[in-house]
Amino acid sequence: MKVLIVGSGGREHAIAASVAKSPKVDKIYCAPGNAGIGQIAECVPIGAMEFGRIVEFAKKEAVDLTIVGMDDPLVGGLVDEMEAAGLRVFGPRKNAAILEGSKAFSKDLMKKYNIPTAAYENFDDPKEALAYLETAKMPVVLKADGLALGKGVLICNTRKEAREGVRTIMEDKKFGAAGNRMVVEEFMTGREVSVLSFVDGRTIQIMSSAQDHKRAGDGDQGLNTGGMGTFSPSPFYTDEVDAFCRKYIYQATVDAMAAEGRPFKGVIFFGLMLTQDGPRVLEYNARFGDPEAQVVLPRMKNDIIDVVQACIDGTLDQLRLQFEDNAAVCVVLASEGYPVSYEKGFVISGLERFGQEEGYYCFHAGTKQTPEGIVTNGGRVLGITAKGTDLKTARANAYKAAEWVSFENKYMRSDIGKAIDEA
Ligand code: AMP
Ligand code: GLY
Repeated sequence: MKVLIVGSGGREHAIAASVAKSPKVDKIYCAPGNAGIGQIAECVPIGAMEFGRIVEFAKKEAVDLTIVGMDDPLVGGLVDEMEAAGLRVFGPRKNAAILEGSKAFSKDLMKKYNIPTAAYENFDDPKEALAYLETAKMPVVLKADGLALGKGVLICNTRKEAREGVRTIMEDKKFGAAGNRMVVEEFMTGREVSVLSFVDGRTIQIMSSAQDHKRAGDGDQGLNTGGMGTFSPSPFYTDEVDAFCRKYIYQATVDAMAAEGRPFKGVIFFGLMLTQDGPRVLEYNARFGDPEAQVVLPRMKNDIIDVVQACIDGTLDQLRLQFEDNAAVCVVLASEGYPVSYEKGFVISGLERFGQEEGYYCFHAGTKQTPEGIVTNGGRVLGITAKGTDLKTARANAYKAAEWVSFENKYMRSDIGKAIDEA
């Protein structure tokens, strides 16, 4: 069969690598893809938001299945447009992708269906938000309602910071239209865990847990980024946590979406915080995590095509998800200066070292093929993933493999997976 993947990051490279393992697949396309994806798929120069062109391409090439990796096209309704054209596609429709697309929607959903999350209020009017903040308990968390590349969240320690935050989000519109509405949320403390799941509208199956490292610098210092590294599984995701989440969060979310007339098919990513009072939902995403996919998918034993087809057909209850009994760590190689400003266009060397040994992966994010070779083309450049029998071995392997590659301005955190030592 022919499969089209929509997106261009490390997550889409990890999805493409999983798809490439399926004996059912003869041809992979990626729109628009990147230099690494281009080694296992045919990249087509169509942007992820060019819905008309994607539909036209999928029809012309008789694509059997499309997998949408990115949030923007999902929230924008690419799945609806493809389905309307009679195409088979994996991902939530627009009315379900709102689970990620509007934080106000997801908070109201959790409140209505008693799904544990931080206490909150939604605001459309900055004046009302400011008035509320005069008596709110600090620290407080301000979140732009819409998609903001993972950056629309401000943690404010003082009332002064909170007032400035309202201006930044709702008046200066630093995150654009995402800030037309805002959620003000109680500040929680605890460890964060990412749990990805496959959902067929009714049934949910949980993948192996992971943990991200969102801040740019060692010791969780510096600005929030798209993610600087991950490990899987999380040793903090215990059987007890799992049992709680199964009872109060996972199926409850799927049932709530169905009850609202918004059946969810695709991947739900649960961003959880393990607080003293038990697990709480920090956020939902309507897609695989990046770089969570880079540590979770390489450990999945199932043929990803079978799983995706079961989600589309509503037969996920007939399948058992299985993961290898090992661990994986992903270290992101970024351009120095990310996420603020950085130079690109530097030639990357050492890439040929990958593919020679089992258990080592180089997932491309911001890279580009040029006549001079593959060059850096973004803030996050590569995700180096390695497996190991346990987390510590996987971490040592990932850091070893991170040295195989070099380019000017190469930057990585040196403490990805440090939390493992505290488990
Ligand atoms: P989100 O995009 O909602 O996941 O928020 C981004 C990051 O901000 C999360 O990964 C947390 O580290 C932090 N965060 C979000 N909401 C809260 C909260 N209520 N309390 C503490 N930290 C939070
Ligand atoms: N790594 C966090 C995310 O994909 O949203």
